[in-house]
Amino acid sequence: MPAQPSDAAERARVDEIRADFARFARDYANLPLYRAICLGLADDSEAAALLLDAQPGQARPVLLLAALHDLVLRRPDLPAARWYASVVGPEGVASGDPWPDVRATIRANRDDLRRTIATRRTQTNEVNRAVYVAVGLALASRDVPSRPALLVELGASAGLLLAVDRYRVELHRRGVALVVGDPASPVVCHGEDRSPGPLPDLALPRIIGRVGLDLAPVDLGDETAVRWLEACLWPDVPGRVERFRAALAMVRADPPTLRAGDMVDDLAATVEQALARTGSSDGSAGHLLVFSSWALTYVRRERRAELAARLAQVAGSFAAVSWVTAEPLGCVPGLPVPKAGALAADSTVLGARRWRHGREVPAEVWGTCHPHGEWIALGRAALGGIR
Ligand SMILES: C[S@@+](CC[C@H](N)C(=O)[O-])C[C@H]1O[C@@H](n2cnc3c(N)ncnc32)[C@H](O)[C@@H]1O
Repeated sequence: MPAQPSDAAERARVDEIRADFARFARDYANLPLYRAICLGLADDSEAAALLLDAQPGQARPVLLLAALHDLVLRRPDLPAARWYASVVGPEGVASGDPWPDVRATIRANRDDLRRTIATRRTQTNEVNRAVYVAVGLALASRDVPSRPALLVELGASAGLLLAVDRYRVELHRRGVALVVGDPASPVVCHGEDRSPGPLPDLALPRIIGRVGLDLAPVDLGDETAVRWLEACLWPDVPGRVERFRAALAMVRADPPTLRAGDMVDDLAATVEQALARTGSSDGSAGHLLVFSSWALTYVRRERRAELAARLAQVAGSFAAVSWVTAEPLGCVPGLPVPKAGALAADSTVLGARRWRHGREVPAEVWGTCHPHGEWIALGRAALGGIR
């Protein structure tokens, strides 16, 4: 009997999913665990089909990988757990081929994985992005170094980047590290400085308040939500999970205010709330330091311009307003655009729009960086010129 059309469509969809896993294994061949799992899934229709239950637009390899990671974080007794550095520690990871254990774990926990896949979306709050956030905030404050800064993050997730000044941020160049932030911090972020010229002075301003705005903020008191955030990290990137856990411990003890809302519609109310938190309703002496990192890119293009207009509206209430952005190429309206072709496709462009005493000053693009802060390159030469 010929297959039902829906069966044929489903099989074709599973074939696409398997091809996505094969591509992931090729693209991330340097990740031993995730490469082996993805090669296994590329060859296992039954396991790959779990992604059919994902919400629309979410059936990506990273969702199944995160669901599995979440499962072993909850159930360290499962056979797959011994392959995860996040569960057994980097020294305890088994050697050989993880796929037989992972396949057995998937088969025995299909319903559990299906539930996670059907209800979750991947979520990030990458602590090492503090490398470029620290640089951006320091550069935006250069002309107003002594004004106390009120920090507002748009698309803050769990708000871990709002503690940027409490981390030790190291910028490495030829064996020497320039340190920004708190040198004694247990949270260490690092990136390579690939700037063609010397770095400018990078001093962070004094921060007097921190508020994060997100469509779906992650409550640091919610164990399940925090575990999911951790599960979305890739366990075989050395140091990434450890850094996340250290930041979590620090930020939980003194968390920023997180607000649920849209970064365009709720911007003004968030700024007001941030100001009220400082015990003042008057920002005329302060620096409103707004930043977004890999968040504006999720907002529709026409809404992005509206965000800039709303910032211009609040600019009249502060001595200084800066909007520091670390977003993909061409994402931020009003920012000069580096010459096409000069940058890697996944480059993050660091720049800012700024208002001083209510008037906008020329926008600046400072450089480019790795999307997780693994390197940074400042200066026009690093951008290949401006269009
Ligand atoms: C990729 S995460 C980046 C999180 C964090 N900025 C970082 O760099 O680690 C993007 C975040 O933006 C949030 N987001 C997307 N659209 C938004 C909007 N219109 N308003 C507020 N937050 C939004 C998402 O919920 C998510 O937490």
